[in-house]
Amino acid sequence: MQADFVSGLFDCKHRGWMCSFLGVAEAMQGGGQLFRGAARQSEGLLHLVRYRTIQCDIVLKEMTMNLTRRKMIFLVGGGAVVAAGSAFGYAATRTPQTAHLPWDLAGKYSDPRMRALSWALLAPNPHNRQPWLADLSEDGIITLHADRDRMLPHTDPFNRQITIGLGCFLELLRMAAAEDGLHIETALFPQGSSAAGLDQRPVARIAFASDPAVVRDPLFALVPDRRSNKEPFDVDRPVAPALLSELAAVVRSGAQFGGTVDPTEVHDLRLLTREALRIEVETPHTYQESVDLFRIGHHEVDANPDGIDFTGPLFETLRLTGQFNREAALDPTNFAYKSGLDAVFANTDTAMGHVWLVTNDNSRETQIATGADWLRVNIAATATGLGFQPLSQALQEFPEMAEPFRQVHERLAPEGGTVQMLSRIGYGPQVGKSPRWPLESRIMNV
Ligand SMILES: Cc1cc2nc3c(=O)[nH]c(=O)nc-3n(C[C@H](O)[C@H](O)[C@H](O)COP(=O)(O)O)c2cc1C
Repeated sequence: MQADFVSGLFDCKHRGWMCSFLGVAEAMQGGGQLFRGAARQSEGLLHLVRYRTIQCDIVLKEMTMNLTRRKMIFLVGGGAVVAAGSAFGYAATRTPQTAHLPWDLAGKYSDPRMRALSWALLAPNPHNRQPWLADLSEDGIITLHADRDRMLPHTDPFNRQITIGLGCFLELLRMAAAEDGLHIETALFPQGSSAAGLDQRPVARIAFASDPAVVRDPLFALVPDRRSNKEPFDVDRPVAPALLSELAAVVRSGAQFGGTVDPTEVHDLRLLTREALRIEVETPHTYQESVDLFRIGHHEVDANPDGIDFTGPLFETLRLTGQFNREAALDPTNFAYKSGLDAVFANTDTAMGHVWLVTNDNSRETQIATGADWLRVNIAATATGLGFQPLSQALQEFPEMAEPFRQVHERLAPEGGTVQMLSRIGYGPQVGKSPRWPLESRIMNV
């Protein structure tokens, strides 16, 4: 019981490509000494003492426990080390209050279109931008638009990834409608589209019609449990090759599924995805795009429930004491920057397998279809208990990424085509829900 208590206490949720602070030990070299030993090993005797900080008074106890490296909590500054947790009444009032409500409200609307939309907005999407806007002004119709204010111009210059996210959204919309015995007829890009980028023209016009013969999708039941898992995976737990077939089996909209758990191939892809991440972080304009989307602490996450969220006791504490903010994250000499880089490498380096989708062409319609398949693969991974994290950096189309982009295509699409998605798989810790904007905020013309 004590172990659970402690585990909850130290749990922190890290979202987006920058996940947590693994460089703790290094950062502590010149500062507080308390956890140095523990940071270097997976088990440690944690001695907690009472410290007073500027912001809060945190009562700490002495206890012995198993302490995983990921769950180290620390704060270094003038030699002070502070641990904070919900049991001390600290985190309870400092977790997002509204950002996760859309997960609870899914399916709880009386209008069938709203009901389906309330599920669809739980779809995975790049940097959690949630770039969907629904126009309901026509009876029985949803006209879906891309929110042009929610693009990622630096890492996704042609809106390819954003379009895939919209494809995930549309597939979830279809599944949710089917649960209600509704068939949806979807016309993609009814006014045309541009390869250069999404514009003000609609992405889709969706007509709802009652259809008693509509087939319900067994994957739908797992939608509330689907996650992108941005934690390191267990390197002692291999992924059974047969699971790749289970993921491949759900693909049905035209993408070619690929996957490997072969240690040599996984090793090579670990290196490739790590290098691509390094380039994204070390390229100022692409890194800035991510940092601009950092939501640090519960206030920021509730105010803007999107982007890359950093909540939980660790990040609240770091924020309060000025150890982690956007400036620190941008400063390559700051430990927040170095620790962030180490943390994302800890993810690429613990991949126990990889899966990907390749398409012959790269039209907007194909990108939408890829999203449909990707959502299904993500949910199928949930069904098997596998952790699943897209690693899109090597697929990005900005000039600095040209070499990893070439390599990933040479390796995964030797016959030609576009590698649309790439994910690592493995067994990781359970992770929480990511924030969402309320459905009402995603409706146009009201
Ligand atoms: C097209 C696409 C690209 C993505 N690329 C990444 C990525 O490179 N790294 C990552 O950690 N997550 C990536 N994701 C996952 C999103 O960050 C995630 O879906 C979003 O934060 C919402 O979280 P959730 O999936 O847990 O609901 C991607 C998702 C999509 C659909």
